[in-house]
Order: sequence, then C-alpha cells, then structure tokens
Amino acid sequence: MRQVPKYLIIGNGRVARHFVHYFSLLKIKQYSQWDRSQPVARLKELVDDSNRILLAIRDDAIEPFIDEHLSTAKVCEHVQALNQGYAALQTGASADTVRDMERALKFFAGSHGDLPANRKNIANAGKALEVLPGAGEAGVRRLGLKIDAIKKGLRAPIRIHFSGSLVSKKAWGAHPLMTFGPDLYPLEKYLSIPFVVDEKAPPFSELFPSLHNPNVRLNERQKAKYHALCVMSGNFSCLLWQKLFESLSEEFGISPHTADMYLRQQADNLLANYKTALTGPLARGDQATIAKNLKALDHDPFQGIYQAFVEAWPSIKQEKLKDRERKAS
Ligand SMILES: NC(=O)c1ccc[n+]([C@@H]2O[C@H](COP(=O)([O-])OP(=O)(O)OC[C@H]3O[C@@H](n4cnc5c(N)ncnc54)[C@H](OP(=O)(O)O)[C@@H]3O)[C@@H](O)[C@H]2O)c1
Repeated sequence: MRQVPKYLIIGNGRVARHFVHYFSLLKIKQYSQWDRSQPVARLKELVDDSNRILLAIRDDAIEPFIDEHLSTAKVCEHVQALNQGYAALQTGASADTVRDMERALKFFAGSHGDLPANRKNIANAGKALEVLPGAGEAGVRRLGLKIDAIKKGLRAPIRIHFSGSLVSKKAWGAHPLMTFGPDLYPLEKYLSIPFVVDEKAPPFSELFPSLHNPNVRLNERQKAKYHALCVMSGNFSCLLWQKLFESLSEEFGISPHTADMYLRQQADNLLANYKTALTGPLARGDQATIAKNLKALDHDPFQGIYQAFVEAWPSIKQEKLKDRERKAS
C-alpha cells in the first residue's frame, strides 16, 4: 500500500500560492503551508507531520533553509530516544527510559503510522515494551528487533524545490516550466504544466503522488544552461514586450492593446513552427533599417540590447546553418 502524501508547502510567494490553489482545485486536503510570518515552533510541528516538503522559496534561500530548519527534524530525536533507551534497557530499565521510549513510539505512530508495516512494527514494539519487566533478557532482545524494524520503515520526508537552476544534494529539483503571475489559474492550466525533474530524482509519482502533470528528466549538468535559456526566452522577452507596451502608451499616446494581436500572432507563429517564425530586418539582412533602428534608440538603455543582438546574429545564423546541415547529412 502506498504512503498517503502529506505535503508541507514552505513559502508564501507566487509559486506557493499557485500550488496551494492547485491543491485546493484538486481537493487535496493533506497539505499545510508555512512561511516566515509563522513561528518556527509551528514549522517543526508541520515538518514532523509531513512526508513531502515543497520548498517554494527563493533559490538562494533553499539550502540554508534546509540546513537551519529541516535537518534536525524531530524524527532524529525520537530515533535517538529509542536507541538510548534500548542501550539503557540492556543494563537495567528505569521508569524514565521506558517513558521516553513510549513517547517516541507514540510520535512514530502519529507521524509514520500510515504504512501498515510501520503501524504493525510500532504496535509490536509498544507491546514488547509493556511486557518487558517480566520478559528478561530475551524480551530486551525482542524489543531491539522491533526497534530495528521501525527504523527501517521510517522514511525521511522527501524534499522538493522548484528552482530551474539549483542542483542540490539536499532536495530534488522539479521545475515547473511555466510562469506564475499574480493571478491564479484555472485547473486545466495547472494540470498541463510540464515539470522538468532532476534526472536522478525518484519517479514523479513518488515526488507528487497526487499529481499527474507531464514531466521530463534533465541531467543535472545541463540544468544551468536550461535555466539560462528559460530566463532569456521568458523573462527577457517579457522586458522587451513591456518596453513596447509602455512606449506605446506613455511615449506615443497609443493604447498598449494596439499591440495585443502582434504579441498573440508572434506566439502563435512560434508555436506553429518555431523554426520559421523569425521575420524582420535581422532575418532579412536589411542593414539600412538596422542602422535606422539603432539611431532611433540613442540614449535609450534598450539600444545596447538591440546592438547585442546585431553583434550576435552572425554566430546565431552560423549555428542555425550548421544545425540544418547536420540534420540533412
Ligand atoms: N515565479 C515563477 O514564475 C517561477 C517559475 C518556476 C519556478 N520558480 C521557482 O519557484 C521558487 C519560488 O519562486 P517564487 O516566484 O514563488 O518567489 P517569490 O514570489 O519571490 O517568493 C519567494 C518566497 O521565498 C520566501 N523566502 C525568501 N527568503 C527566505 C528565507 N531565507 N527563508 C524562508 N523563506 C524565504 C519569501 O518569504 P517572505 O514573503 O517572508 O519574504 C517568499 O515567500 C524559486 O525557486 C523559483 O526559482 C518560480
């Protein structure tokens, strides 16, 4: 039987809010959320009650957050209580030792008792502890075996982050190839978001047992370049479109919506055939128009961006040619 997923979403930014909304649309109830406005003590309780920790926080905070808050989860304390208790019982039980062990067993029953095998081992260890006073050395040995079985059945919560560039030994990366704006989306959109998952991560169905999103694997070595390309295509093109909309509205006194169709058609053409979608003076090699465009952008920070494209274009074109020849041969 599969483990019931209990998610803990860390953060309250865009991705966290969209995930919470996605979960609520899917009627997933087994999740909680924590962000920095809540006490750290609450975080500890939630961590102990979760088996999937989703770190929806800024990239550079992910590893420090794990080091500070997630590596000392209560599980370790309770395993230690069982280990120490067992060692003490071999030399003679004390009421305190038994109480500590009972407390640890109660903790595991609450937080790790959702797999039948765990439940059985925890219950058996409880029984062995109860009858210990009359059971002598053999009883202590039996308890030791039960404790080992509990430890084997424990699973550390799976940690998942959403960064497209971070490669970490502390959490698996599952990057939603999507942009999450201030407005929430309808269910159909969330269901279709593809996730780019670290190659060595467990199956998607184990990371997110309640989700059935399309997903692909990416070698960890390729992640940095993959993310650089996502940033250029998504974020940098956004800057360029913002510049057009703002200039139409503020500089030329034209409604920014006048460009809506241009944007939609550009996206449609790319989706229909990204290889033939490029038009304009660069594609045509129209040097006179390029020179005029550059002159018109004098004293505008976007002149440098235009210039960079002009300078990079011969190499980009060369790459495209080589690619075409490779495919033809
Ligand atoms: N937005 C997107 O379109 C998108 C797309 C794909 C992947 N991602 C990835 O998703 C993750 C979250 O991005 P986001 O867009 O949701 O970011 P965001 O809207 O800027 O929110 C960042 C969140 O991180 C929290 N945070 C920052 N430093 C923290 C710390 N030291 N300890 C605890 N929490 C901390 C912030 O908490 P406070 O509110 O307390 O400051 C906030 O809740 C990132 O890894 C990002 O690369 C984002």
